[in-house]
This record gives sequence, C-alpha cells and structure tokens, in this order.
Amino acid sequence: MNLIDGKAISKKILQETRLEVEALKAHGHTPGLAVVLVGEDPASRSYVRSKDKTCSELGMFSQKFELPADTTQEALVALVHELNADSRIHGILVQSPPPAHIDESAVIEAIDPRKDVDGFHPINVAKVAMGAPDAFVPCTPLGCQRLLLESGIETAGANVVVLGRSMIVGKPMAMLLMQKGRGGDATVTVAHSRTRDLAAVCRTADILIAAIGRPEFVKADFVKEGAVVIDVGINRVPDPSAPNGSKLVGDVAFAEVAPKCKAITPVPGGVGPMTIAMLMHNTVQACKRLMQ
Ligand code: GUN
Repeated sequence: MNLIDGKAISKKILQETRLEVEALKAHGHTPGLAVVLVGEDPASRSYVRSKDKTCSELGMFSQKFELPADTTQEALVALVHELNADSRIHGILVQSPPPAHIDESAVIEAIDPRKDVDGFHPINVAKVAMGAPDAFVPCTPLGCQRLLLESGIETAGANVVVLGRSMIVGKPMAMLLMQKGRGGDATVTVAHSRTRDLAAVCRTADILIAAIGRPEFVKADFVKEGAVVIDVGINRVPDPSAPNGSKLVGDVAFAEVAPKCKAITPVPGGVGPMTIAMLMHNTVQACKRLMQ
C-alpha cells in the first residue's frame, strides 16, 4: 500500500505558485484574494484562516472578512460587489455553507465570474461541464485530480466511482474525470446515500473518491483489492484519548481499508492541503487573466 502524501505534493505546487507570484510582482501585479466568512463555525474559521495565511506566505495580497452570524444577505452581497470593483482583489471566496438565512446561490451569483476562484458561479460550472480552458475548477476536485496525476495513477479507461454528489466536490469531480485528456478519460459512476447496494457499486471502482461527508463511512467491503482510494472527508469526531478530546477522520475507515489499497490518501495530510494549494493556483490564474 502506498500512502499518497498530499502535504508533500501541495508543497511542490505552492512552490511553483510562489514563483508565479514573484514573476507577476516583478511586473507590478500582486495577486490578491479576499476570503469571507459569515458566522462562527470553528471548522470554517480554521479553513478561512489557513487560506489567508497561505496567501501571505506566498507573497500575495490577502484580505480576510470575518462577519457576524447575523450579517444580512444584502450586506454580504454589497461586500461582494465592493470586492468585484476592487482592483487589488483577483479572487473572491465566500466560505460555504453560510448561515441558513442567507441564500447562497444569490451570493455566488453576485461574484464576478472572472474572480470566482472557487468555481461555484453558474458560468464556471457551465464552463467546467463544457471543458472550457478558462473555467475556474472547484479547488477540492481539482486537487484530487492533481493528486492522481502527480502520483502517476492512470485515469484513462479506469472505472472511477465518485461517492457523493455535492456541487463543491462530487459533481465537478465527475465532470473532470470524464473529460477528454490528461487526468480524464475515465468511466465515471456517481454514487450517493440513495444508491442501491452502495458497497457493491463502490467495489467496481479502480479509483474510489469518497466525498460523502460521513466519518469512516467507507468500510473494507466497499473497496476492491488493489484499488486507489482518495478520501475527501474531513470530520471531527470525539476522541477521549486526544488532548483536546477530538480528532479528524476521513470518510474512509482508514485502518481497515488501507491494507486493501494500491494507494490511499491519509486524513489529515491528503486532500486537505491540496485544496488550499489549488486555491492559490486559481487566484494566480485569475490575476493573470484580469491583467491581460
Ligand atoms: N466549504 C468547503 N469547501 C469549500 C471550498 O472549497 N470553498 C468554499 N468557499 N467553501 C467551502
């Protein structure tokens, strides 16, 4: 079994991105990212902070907005409009999910598609579906595809099962893998909580992407001997033996699944760091395109 080291691969991508940032700065353009969080969800807060921190480490301009949970939709949309108009900002990210009183679609649609580094705007969703070269691809599926490429795992002709159908991971992941070309050309099945005989469907996978959002949901009987498993889950669960009383686990029951795999990503240190690296990559792309 090979452990796919997302931390190491993400470092390489961040290093490449740092060089691109330096080249842009030499021409007077500093890539800038705005990250917006509404509410106090601890996991979201920690993601937003590491996005902001990584930006600064790469020499990018970064603005972090941590807004109270009772922020109105109008105020949030007004902030997005300000950021659309701000020439220092090339990428805008509003952390998902927002509090229940906010219509997330309306906020996403307010973002200038050229600054939509999350790839959530309908224009970018459509471009990904069309295979357009200037699409912004959502960072997590883009990171998963890159992990496969960097690990030399062939997707062409492979049976891939994507477990999960979210707009952030499952749907765009399936789109990317079925596209023509490098990192694509796969035969893709999208399975989810309502799939009949889910374990049997997952067992057909040469590559299984677990993005169902349930701790250790994928057990040994979901996985074919010699499969590659990419675990997108980040779930905090109680752990009395840990100093803070909790630990992170993925959507895969790692201990029982790993021995069956040709390769598998750990949690933490697998997909998570890749997501941030791809966000930095997308922000640099946004800067380049807006400067053209
Ligand atoms: N919530 C979970 N993943 C993401 C992501 O990639 N982007 C945003 N904006 N919110 C998220």
